[in-house]
Amino acid sequence: MILSGRVVNLSRTRIHYGTDALQGFRKLIVSQEYRKSRVFILVDANTGKHCLPLLVEACPELDAASVFEIEGGEASKSLIAAGKIWGELLAAQADRHSILINLGGGVVSDLGGFVAAGLKRGIKYVNIPTSLMGMVDAAIGGKTGINMGKLKNQVGFFYSPIAVFLDPRFLKTLPSAHIRSGFAEVIKSALLGDPVLWRKLLRLGAENILRMDTSEKPWQDMIMKTLTFKNRIVCQDFREQKLRKILNFGHTIGHALESLSLGRDENILLHGDAVALGMIAESWLSHMKAGLSKAEAMEIISFLKAGYKPQADALKGFFKSSPASLDSIYDLLMHDKKNREGQITYTLIQAAGKPRINLDAGRKETAVSLEKIFE
Ligand SMILES: NC(=O)c1ccc[n+]([C@@H]2O[C@H](COP(=O)([O-])OP(=O)(O)OC[C@H]3O[C@@H](n4cnc5c(N)ncnc54)[C@H](O)[C@@H]3O)[C@@H](O)[C@H]2O)c1
Repeated sequence: MILSGRVVNLSRTRIHYGTDALQGFRKLIVSQEYRKSRVFILVDANTGKHCLPLLVEACPELDAASVFEIEGGEASKSLIAAGKIWGELLAAQADRHSILINLGGGVVSDLGGFVAAGLKRGIKYVNIPTSLMGMVDAAIGGKTGINMGKLKNQVGFFYSPIAVFLDPRFLKTLPSAHIRSGFAEVIKSALLGDPVLWRKLLRLGAENILRMDTSEKPWQDMIMKTLTFKNRIVCQDFREQKLRKILNFGHTIGHALESLSLGRDENILLHGDAVALGMIAESWLSHMKAGLSKAEAMEIISFLKAGYKPQADALKGFFKSSPASLDSIYDLLMHDKKNREGQITYTLIQAAGKPRINLDAGRKETAVSLEKIFE
């Protein structure tokens, strides 16, 4: 089943979801306000091949647009890549009325949003997410950013797109590893704000869900619920002063794990894999620090292990071959933007649907929680 014609309109950014979302995009491009704007499209090698034809078919006016292509993958979220695109945009006479269309996953929307925020002190941009991670998380909420060396998202802006258009048909060509990666954010949002959805996920089982086609109803429901939840939180706390911090569940440890694999030839973990393993550790921390019952912590951990066991095994193997990495995890955790006074600050959960922010834990408790990933 395909949902159609849904417009989530809770924030300054309109979010269109459904197989007719690209018609909404075309309306925007030909509208009185934007028809004279110069349009630029940012893609990576895969979305240029698999997604751009569908976009141009839906909006033939884009035939004249300039397309910039970056290499796929996390390494493109860099100042070098941003500088290159700024140079190309300026060479192509981009001005303050130009629009940048980010057609891709979280890498394209994070980098493209960053580029748009910086050029001429801010040009307009649109996100058209093509990965599950993009649809349920990265394209929504106006956080843009690049990595510095091994450290994730260290430089960036809060800068919202004028609109987001999500067409689930793009998911047909997304490799299954990236469905698994995006699924981590679905699990996170169910655990934070939707106990009914969480119970449903438990009933279905992670492995069964990951085997299902994304055009099936359970997936369509999960995507809609997750993006709506994210948008609701962002609308209430755009600049992450308080409520939005809940979205960091699993990400403190997740980002540190992900950073370990940055810059290596072989990427051990995708972003969502790292978040899933981060949620295993942070569920145990939630038991130790936030009152999550042992039974519920174990239920969450078992669910996650069923979906992400090969990734946990790969990480275990990596630590075995490079024992010093465990120490570097703690160093990486100390760079987390949320930290205060030498303690690592976490978002944890007291129960499904009851997140708690600003909970501190030290090195020892963190080390114990990391062990849970490998047990
Ligand atoms: N700004 C935010 O709020 C936010 C939230 C979550 C994640 N992120 C960031 O998002 C990034 C991860 O996003 P991602 O998982 O989408 O990674 P990604 O952008 O690298 O996309 C994953 C892979 O899938 C390919 N791809 C994308 N759409 C495709 C399609 N329809 N068909 C075939 N191939 C396709 C891409 O080329 C890439 O190889 C990380 O950098 C993370 O930090 C940002």
